Amino acid sequence: MSLRIIFPNAPMRLALAGAIVCATGMAAGLPAIEGEVTFSKDIAPILQRSCQNCHQPDAAAPMSLLTYSQVRPWAKTIKARTLIRDKQGVMPPWFVEKDFGIQHFKNDPSLSDMDLAKISKWADTGAPEGNPADLPPAKELGGNSKWTAGEPDLILKTAWINVKSSAPDYFGELPNMPTGLMEDRYVKSVEMREENDYSGAGGRQTVGSRYVIHHMIWTVNVPGMPSAGDDFNADTASGSWPIHEVGRNADFFPDEAGKLLRAGSVLNPYSIHTHSNGRDTRARLLYGFKFFPKGYKPAQRYAPRSLGDGGNVELSANKAEQRFDAYQVLEEPTKIKSYEPHLHAAGTRMCLEAIWGHTIETLNCVGYDHNWVIVYDYDDDYAPLLPKGTILHLIGYFDTTPANKNVTDPRNWKGSGNISISNMFHDNGESIGLTEEQFLLEMTRRKDKLKWTRNDVIIGCPLCNSEPLPVNNKKAPAAAASTGAGGGQ
Ligand code: HEC
Repeated sequence: MSLRIIFPNAPMRLALAGAIVCATGMAAGLPAIEGEVTFSKDIAPILQRSCQNCHQPDAAAPMSLLTYSQVRPWAKTIKARTLIRDKQGVMPPWFVEKDFGIQHFKNDPSLSDMDLAKISKWADTGAPEGNPADLPPAKELGGNSKWTAGEPDLILKTAWINVKSSAPDYFGELPNMPTGLMEDRYVKSVEMREENDYSGAGGRQTVGSRYVIHHMIWTVNVPGMPSAGDDFNADTASGSWPIHEVGRNADFFPDEAGKLLRAGSVLNPYSIHTHSNGRDTRARLLYGFKFFPKGYKPAQRYAPRSLGDGGNVELSANKAEQRFDAYQVLEEPTKIKSYEPHLHAAGTRMCLEAIWGHTIETLNCVGYDHNWVIVYDYDDDYAPLLPKGTILHLIGYFDTTPANKNVTDPRNWKGSGNISISNMFHDNGESIGLTEEQFLLEMTRRKDKLKWTRNDVIIGCPLCNSEPLPVNNKKAPAAAASTGAGGGQ
């Protein structure tokens, strides 16, 4: 085991890691790898798992990383871009800080310390190919047209739009799309992806060189029924839907809380923002819905989470470490289904804390790169379970110095606003409201399944390791006496 030193202050950690990398030429804190590291045996499996969904022909990334000859020229760059860990520019784009907070997410593509150590050693030892017989079977490809969440049950397509090479940014709406559903269905996942006639040639070397639809905000309504937008009651509506944003991953809804898509409903793509990629491009957005089986009913319902500050972000010019705070008191027991930091170009990091009485826990800190809007979906057994009265505390960090490559002009003061060079500070993640009974049941289920004892530190569930009261647990005094533990401490 390597020794991990925790520095909660991000710039300090980065500076220290940088100093060690420079001094020794080796990456700090990585496990030692015995023997030769080869492309075929060690690197190809990592690329298959975490990189090739984008680094293949006709997908998001500028180059393919499938074969040895494609990967070999990039060895040093791959080492550099993966070792950034949770900061802007890291590959794969996934920014969860790993030295504290919850570490269990759905579809986490990030690299382990062991992966990083292998990549590092491989790049430093001449990037050998090894024996091609060691290669894993090739991964199934599909380019930009592959649904990462699986083949959808329902696909809806917006109207085509044309974005000229020199077009200014455009904000507007697109025509409604009837879902054609004849009966109510509950949605298990929704994935949104842009389809366009990009040929792969030229352009800018960013994710924005591939796509022109920067975002799409949409609602679902049934004509003649009240708008579903603000109604979070699962019996009548499903509340808000995830926003499409360039670089975004698919959204999965928990087994207990599918989202309702009503019979006869119509999808209303009411706020599109397009941004030219430097070429004349024809594009549209595809929505892929996967459903729970017919007859499914959710046991839990969504709860509004309104965390952030839309209007008061005020950033000094050319200054790092600018911080903003926002708070929300939970009015019912709540499960945090997902965490979705939403800052704009100046944003670099966001932390979410839960304050319960004297307990203050950092649920997660994640880096932020406005090229990639990522939703972090918690694993079902680790999603924060917070009692009524918990205060959620959101902390946003901004950097307007040239160190932040996304800031176009470090000389300017910056305020709040919708465009990417103005600022936002939100957690767009989703919450599930629980009854007291559901809350207790879910804690008990997790305790039993994961065999937690009162000595485990369970981040994000302040009541999970409190013992049941002796009156409810007749065995407690006897068990305490037999171990000599002193009972009930
Ligand atoms: C979600 C899509 C996605 C995934 C997953 C992904 N990449 Fe990338 N990668 C991109 C895009 C888009 C770019 C170009 C923009 C940029 O440089 O950030 C890029 C750029 C790069 C570059 C820099 C290229 C240059 O011109 O300097 C390297 C190296 C790289 N990726 C390696 C990797 C490796 C290694 C992995 C897996 C460990 C990975 N990427 C996973 C999309 C992805």
